[in-house]
This record gives sequence, structure tokens and C-alpha cells, in this order.
Amino acid sequence: MSKIAVFDSGFGGLTVLKELQKLMPGEQYIYYGDSANAPYGEKSPEELLKLTTEVCNKILAEDDVKCFVIACNTTTSEAFGPLTANFPDKPFVGIEPALRWAVEENPGKHILVLGTTATVNGRRLRSRYEELKDKAKISLLAATRIVPYVEGHDITREAFMDYLRETLAPYRKDTDCVVLGCTHFPFVREELRKCFDKEIRFYDAAISVARETKALLSERGLLAESAAGDASTSGIITENISNTNKTPVTLFMNSDPDRINREKELLDEYQ
Ligand code: DGL
Repeated sequence: MSKIAVFDSGFGGLTVLKELQKLMPGEQYIYYGDSANAPYGEKSPEELLKLTTEVCNKILAEDDVKCFVIACNTTTSEAFGPLTANFPDKPFVGIEPALRWAVEENPGKHILVLGTTATVNGRRLRSRYEELKDKAKISLLAATRIVPYVEGHDITREAFMDYLRETLAPYRKDTDCVVLGCTHFPFVREELRKCFDKEIRFYDAAISVARETKALLSERGLLAESAAGDASTSGIITENISNTNKTPVTLFMNSDPDRINREKELLDEYQ
């Protein structure tokens, strides 16, 4: 059975995978987390194109793939066009911060969009901002230390909370909702919540990506026939990390060899 391939710079894309699995439990998935090269958010478009082309080639060498889901806002923002042009036979779905959705539901309110440096400075989000800026008060902010924290790099929880409180201090009082513009960020939703005075609603585009993927597969007649029938077949392949067999996903984590044990723990936590 042909699979849906999902990839990201590391663990973040698991938040998208989860929504895909919920919506299409009868599909089979292959997930690639390029942890050894995280964070992507500080890389140039050229570097991102090179890395993600390699990721797609590795996935294709391993499995029969019917579509790619780029579970990474940064890659979608900075490399979507050239990356998809490298694989003209495969359909791609990308992800961008759910700003339009947040504005629709919160006209006139203060919406804070958090993302990586590349996403926040990227043309894609800037043009979305231009399109919507008269409808709400929109702030765009690069939160650079969330990805290293989620990836388990050297930052203690205490230092991380200090970083978050300090970075978000100017937004503490009057933010109404937060757009999680990086797929790693839903993992620290509760930590983020503590940094605002108001009860915050979070917007995460993972659900929209799952819907878009389903529509695309359906349009092309590629949806798995049974809605749930194949969900139990699983193959766990690991590049250099082993995984507990919890999800019907072929999983590759391209881990830094020095950090494998830490990454195994995190994988258990996040899945
Ligand atoms: N999770 C990715 C995103 O949505 C990339 C984060 C990173 O590696 O910097 O942007």
C-alpha cells in the first residue's frame, strides 16, 4: 500500500502526523524527522532545499509514497516551490501559520503569531500579514529557543521558562490568541499559556493540513479504500534510533549519534 510521507526537521511534524492519523486512520504513513539537522528555522533557503531534497530522496528509496506532507512551516515558507519542482510526479501539501483562521475568529483582537526566524521573516507570512493587517492587530514574533528545547538540546526547563517569560513579556497583557506557526510549538502549549494574563486560544494549522491532504488524495483517487482497516499494520524502521511500537508508522529519526538516548525518551513522550 502506497504511503503518505510526512517530514520535518525533527519531532515537530509528529503534531501534524497525529491529525493525519485521526482523519485518515486507514492510511499508512512514513515519518522522517531530520533531528541531526535541526533547527531548520535558522537556515538559508538553499540549505533547506538541499536538506529536504535529501530527505525526500531517502524516503523514496525506502518506500512507495503517494504524497508528501511538509510538516514544517519553515520549509513550506522558504523552499516549497523548488522542492516540489524536484519531485514533479508527487503531490505535496505544505503548512503555513493559521493566521487567516485566527483573524476570521478574532476580528479586531490582538493576535500573536509565533514562528521560526525564517518563517517570521519569510515572504509567505509577510504577504499574509499584509492581506490581513487591517482586520486585527497582528504581531509576528520569532521564538528561536522553542525548537531546541523541544528537540532536547541543552536548555533546562527553568532556563526555557525564563526565556519564554522574557520574550513574551511585551505581549503578556493584551494578547487574545496565539498562532502556533511552527509544528514544534504545540508541544509547549501549556508553558506558553503561563506567559499570558488572558485565557489564550491557540491556532494550529495541523488540522487544516490533514483536511487538505485528504481532499487532495480524494481528488486524485488515491485515498485508501478502507477508512480504518489497515491502521494496525505497522513497520518500524529506524535509522539510528529505536522506537516503541505505538503507531502504525514507519519512522525514521535522523538523530545525532551522541543524543540517541535522549531522543528515544522524547519520542516516547511525544508520540
Ligand atoms: N517545525 C518546523 C517548522 O514548523 C521547523 C522548526 C526548526 O527546525 O527550526 O517551522
